[in-house]
This record gives sequence, C-alpha cells and structure tokens, in this order.
Amino acid sequence: MTALKPGVTKVAILGFGTVGSAVAKLLSAGYLPGLQLALVYNRDVARKRASAEARFAGPDVLWTDHFEDVLRSDADVIVELVGGGEPAGTWIEQALVAGKSVVTANKQLIAYRGPELARLAQANGVQLLHGAAVAGGVPVIPGMLQGLSGEAVTRVSGILNGTCNYILSRMERGDSYAEVLKDAQRLGYAESDPTADVGGFDARAKLCILARVAMHAELDPEQVPTQSIAAIDAIDFAYARELGCTIRQVSKAQQLSGDCMYARVAPMLVPLDSPMAWSQGTQNMVVSTGRFGGDVVFSGHGAGGNATAVAVVSDLLAVAQGARAVTLPVQPKGVTGDSVAPHYLRFIVDDKPGIVSAISGALSKVGANIDSLLQRRGYPKHRLPFVVTTEPTLNSIIAAAVDSIAAMDCMLEPPLALEMLVVDDKDEETA
Ligand code: NAP
Ligand code: HSE
Repeated sequence: MTALKPGVTKVAILGFGTVGSAVAKLLSAGYLPGLQLALVYNRDVARKRASAEARFAGPDVLWTDHFEDVLRSDADVIVELVGGGEPAGTWIEQALVAGKSVVTANKQLIAYRGPELARLAQANGVQLLHGAAVAGGVPVIPGMLQGLSGEAVTRVSGILNGTCNYILSRMERGDSYAEVLKDAQRLGYAESDPTADVGGFDARAKLCILARVAMHAELDPEQVPTQSIAAIDAIDFAYARELGCTIRQVSKAQQLSGDCMYARVAPMLVPLDSPMAWSQGTQNMVVSTGRFGGDVVFSGHGAGGNATAVAVVSDLLAVAQGARAVTLPVQPKGVTGDSVAPHYLRFIVDDKPGIVSAISGALSKVGANIDSLLQRRGYPKHRLPFVVTTEPTLNSIIAAAVDSIAAMDCMLEPPLALEMLVVDDKDEETA
C-alpha cells in the first residue's frame, strides 16, 4: 500500500452526528497538517449546515445530501460515521471500488462484513481502517495489530461498551437505570438504538472484531450469547457489595482446543478490587492474555465524540502516510458461551414458607451446590428480594435450574442469574 500523493489528503465525512462533527472539530483544530476536510455528507444536510458544529468545517467544505457527490469529489479518504449495516455497507463498497480509502467506526458492519470489505479494499489498492470500531478512543485495534501480532493471544476480556459502563457505574452510586440511560443518550455515548448497547449487541460486535484481530478467529456474531443489563436493579448492587463485588458488562472470548471458541457478553459480578470494578463512566478496558508475554491492558474512554474522533483521525493519518497493517490468516470458529463459574441468583418473591427449600431442591436436582444465601431485612414480605450464590457450575446448568424456578407461583419477576467473575480465571474450565 503506498502513501497518498504527497501534500494534502482530502477527507469526506459521511454522517455529521456525534462522531462526525467531532472529527470535523479535530481536523479544523490546526494541529494536523496534511489533512483537509473537503466534504460533509448527511441526509437533510441543510439542518447540519445550520448547526453549531458546522463552524468546524471551513468555508470551502462542500455540504451535500447526494451520495454521488461523494464519489465524484476529489476526496482521497471517506470517513463513514453513519453506522448500521445499510446503506453504510453499500457506500463503503462504492467508495472502495472508486479508489477511495475508507476509515470507519462502524463495528456492526466490520463484525459482520469486515473480511469481505478488506478483500475489496485490497483488490482496489486502497485501505480500509476501523480503529475506532472497538473501544472508541482506546487504541486496542492498532495495539493488537501492530504491538501484539507476535503474541499467541489466548483470551481477550474486558469492558467494551461505554454506555453500559456509564449506566452500571452510576447505578452503583445510587442513580436509577432509566435516568442514566437518558443521560447516556443525551451525551452521545449510546447508539442510535440504545438496545444495541444495553442488550449487549454493540459489545458482541466489538468482541467478534477483537477475536478476529487478536486471535485470528472468525466468529458469527449471532452465535455469541448476550445478556441484557436491563434487568439489573439497585438491590443487585447492594447484594453484590455484600459479596465484595460490583456489576459490570463483561465481554470475554477465549481459545479452546478444537474448532470452537468461548465467547460471551453479559453483566457479571466483578470483585471490587479488580480493574473492571475500577472502570467508571464511559471507560473501556481490554485485557489481552498471551501465551508468551502474559497480560496486556488497554483502557480509556470507549464512547463519546472526542475520544472516538481521536481514533478516526489517527486512522486518517495512517492512511495518508501509507502505513501498512499486519495481516494474518483467519480461521472460522464455532462459539460456545458455556463456562464453569460461581453464580449469583436473585429472586423477588411473594413470601411464604418453603420457597428456599424449593429453590435449593431445583438447584440440587441439576447438581448445583449453594454457596451462600443473603436476605437483607426490611423489605416487604409481599415483594421480598433475596439472593443465592452457587459454587462453580456450568452456565447452561444454572439456566436450566433457573427456568424451573421461574415457573414457581411465588416468583414475582423472572429470577436474575449473573456469573460471578473470578479475578484470575486463566485455568477456569470451559465447556
Ligand atoms: P449519530 O450521532 O447518530 O450520527 C450519525 C449521523 O449519520 C447523523 O448525523 C445521521 O443523520 C446520519 N445518518 C444516519 N443515517 C443516514 C442515512 N441513511 N443517510 C444519511 N445520513 C444518515 O451516531 P454517532 O454516535 O456519531 O456514531 C457514528 C458511528 O460511530 C456509528 O457506527 C457508531 O457505532 C460509531 N461509534 C460511535 C461512538 C460514540 O461514542 N458515539 C463511539 C465509537 C463508535 P440524522 O441526524 O439525520 O439522524
Ligand atoms: N455506544 C457505544 C458505547 C459507542 O457505548 O460503547 C462506542 O462504540
């Protein structure tokens, strides 16, 4: 791959939203000689041109709501910041075929179609970089591609969604789920459809990209089990604290022997003294575990316009200078989300005699051993929350027991089952 022609690299931004306008701001800040914003494309663009953020685009910038103008322009690099599968996917294809390099932050598109688009870029002698697609402003992708390509990475784990981390770390301090979700949307952290964040689908896409980049494994995102954070309640933080833990959305992928890999995204109890628990607000954290060099930790802000724009602009500079990415062959792998771990089970019941005995019966029937029972005083008997923790048991076995417990008359809500993360679970068994 050769560097673009010496001098100025012209940039077109598709999507003038949270990240697009922040990229324009960085490009106009005067510290990036050689990059020039030439065009902004957005639907109904007059609205964007009249926005306060439009001041970051110079007077010579072309504003358009016709995609053909982008292809016809003299922009060297297209920055795709619209998001979602389509039409962004088609636009990227057309840009690559037109001989324009592409920088994107679109994790959904890269998770599902990354290899195919990378081949198209290569066939057309241009570049496709997606450093902002995982962990926003934290350089995990370039770090893995350049700095860790010589490692045999066996596991990646961490916090990959800034919105969930923002919500859970504020709930830990007593704020309500609904209130902090609204704030995350207002502040531009959440995806346009926030169920992608809270449901784990955003983190799942990022985990699949990381599995590809770090472990050379191609996973089908649809096969990676996810669990929403939406069922987490204030009471869970109170009980988690009694167990020396808090709650974070954890994403984990691990090499297994054979053609299968462990991968899962779920809210989990994490020890209060673990780095995941220390991650507050929009912080992301990724730990790469390697066979030779051990653990490497990446952390920083994983969501928000400015942080993400830094990653986008870093990719733009790499394209402008013809930086070559390391590429290694990737193998398709099946996925299991099953692993052996202690579990936290929270029930909300209309109290009556025999409930604990029925729950322990359902758990013993599947061979799950109870480790502790926590019942705080002071809650009304007609809506009583209490918690059972289990000794290490397969997730699938716990799920089967929880299904039968959910059918009990006294259950006012579906029970909540959360894995409890063991700090150094290198030797943890996986199914
Ligand atoms: P956003 O604020 O919703 O911006 C998207 C922009 O694209 C909006 O201006 C929207 O216009 C425009 N757009 C959407 N659909 C379009 C269409 N069909 N035709 C033309 N324009 C269209 O989203 P964002 O937060 O900047 O995210 C952009 C990308 O960056 C996504 O892939 C996201 O996953 C990724 N990302 C975001 C963050 C973050 O913290 N926000 C971090 C890392 C990666 P309207 O105003 O008309 O809707
Ligand atoms: N919505 C995403 C998040 C943006 O909250 O992490 C960064 O990809």
